[in-house]
Amino acid sequence: MIFYFSGTGNSLQVAKNISEFTGERLVSVSNEMANSQGSLEYTLADSERIGFVFPIYAWAPPKMVLDFIKQLKLHSYSDNYVFSIATCGDNIGNAMKLLAKTLRKVKLPLHSGFSVRMPNNYIIMFDVDSKEVERQKLEAAQRTLEDIRKIISERKRDVFQVVKGSFPGILTGLVNPPFNKLGINTKKFYADDKCTGCGMCERVCNCRNISVQGKPRWGDRCSQCLACLHYCPVKAVQYGKKSSRKGRYTNPNVNIQDFI
Ligand SMILES: Cc1cc2nc3c(=O)[nH]c(=O)nc-3n(C[C@H](O)[C@H](O)[C@H](O)COP(=O)(O)O)c2cc1C
Repeated sequence: MIFYFSGTGNSLQVAKNISEFTGERLVSVSNEMANSQGSLEYTLADSERIGFVFPIYAWAPPKMVLDFIKQLKLHSYSDNYVFSIATCGDNIGNAMKLLAKTLRKVKLPLHSGFSVRMPNNYIIMFDVDSKEVERQKLEAAQRTLEDIRKIISERKRDVFQVVKGSFPGILTGLVNPPFNKLGINTKKFYADDKCTGCGMCERVCNCRNISVQGKPRWGDRCSQCLACLHYCPVKAVQYGKKSSRKGRYTNPNVNIQDFI
């Protein structure tokens, strides 16, 4: 069973890759959070692996993933293998440590953890990678994934292959909390004149927070996954003043249907 969260498809590509190799079923965290009505209970098959795959947001797992884990109840757990893969533009700080701490709260271990560098989608601060960097990152990710899926299929324990970057404690411990508290809001999202009202932003929103009546309107909930912004087919969704001059990115190896 692989629980995944993804805004622009990188983490979904990784989750699908591992699922195809190991045969584990894929479960979307955002779908489950929207439809569960408070019950996040799953029964494990014998020796089923448990995976958590997600993007890094400000050197931590998305808050929705941590909230999901805090409510998770896994029946028939019997020393099943637990792994995690974080996708990132560059590095993940102490995100794996934070994930392991959250898993311990629901009495789950973390046997192995990995980070995979993927094209950057955080255009609120930076821009997307150049097409050449995007190509290089996706090719390198494919090679990294071949190693990772071997480790996971052999259920190797105590393997942590993560790029933490500099000052991981400060970034995850001190920068992430204010990002979650103050940095995530929907006030700056809007659709410009190019908007056709097609509804794509509403369909891809991980928080089920956009409604399109003519033009999209954002409610209060947001994970800052930026799916609305990147998946807009006419580049009409903007965040503040600068996003119109920036590029857009969606993972070329996943299909939009895989999300919906
Ligand atoms: C809000 C936000 C914050 C991000 N913070 C980081 C970060 O701290 N470190 C990093 O390397 N990449 C960061 N990124 C880049 C993403 O982690 C990366 O592009 C990821 O692969 C996207 O996965 P997805 O396509 O599954 O959504 C951030 C992206 C967003 C949208």
